Amino acid sequence: MVKFNMHQRVIVNTALTCAALLLPLPLMAQTPAIFKDADLLMGQSLINQNNCIACHTQQVGGDGSGMYKPLGRINTAGLLRGMVEQCNTSLGMSLFPEEVTAIAAVLNHTHYKFTD
Ligand code: HEC
Repeated sequence: MVKFNMHQRVIVNTALTCAALLLPLPLMAQTPAIFKDADLLMGQSLINQNNCIACHTQQVGGDGSGMYKPLGRINTAGLLRGMVEQCNTSLGMSLFPEEVTAIAAVLNHTHYKFTD
């Protein structure tokens, strides 16, 4: 068994405390401000209800996720939300603004990974 003297114990404890305090920071920083309050569960169920995947699969094959191009022209969280809003309007989906945000937040979480 490893024995720590008093000094080492303080260092280990400090390191653990710092790790515990710092851990949530990078996690929080990964969520763009516009998606901070988004309801991901609602977003996922809206994606399931609105044929997003079915139509995308028709266009690009596979599981349809090839439609999402994180390195394409959609390169910020704002543009991603704007794209979902555009689909909402052009396909007549009648989504509320917070629903558009929720959907975009899910796509960001699963595919785009924008941090701002
Ligand atoms: C009727 C077919 C259809 C439906 C339904 C549909 N989409 Fe799309 N979607 C498309 C097509 C086609 C494109 C490519 C448009 C382009 O490149 O200009 C696209 C592109 C996108 C993109 C941009 C991908 C990128 O990175 O360039 C996003 C995001 C997206 N759709 C989200 C959705 C979501 C979310 C839904 C459901 C709420 C949805 N779409 C429903 C046909 C559809």
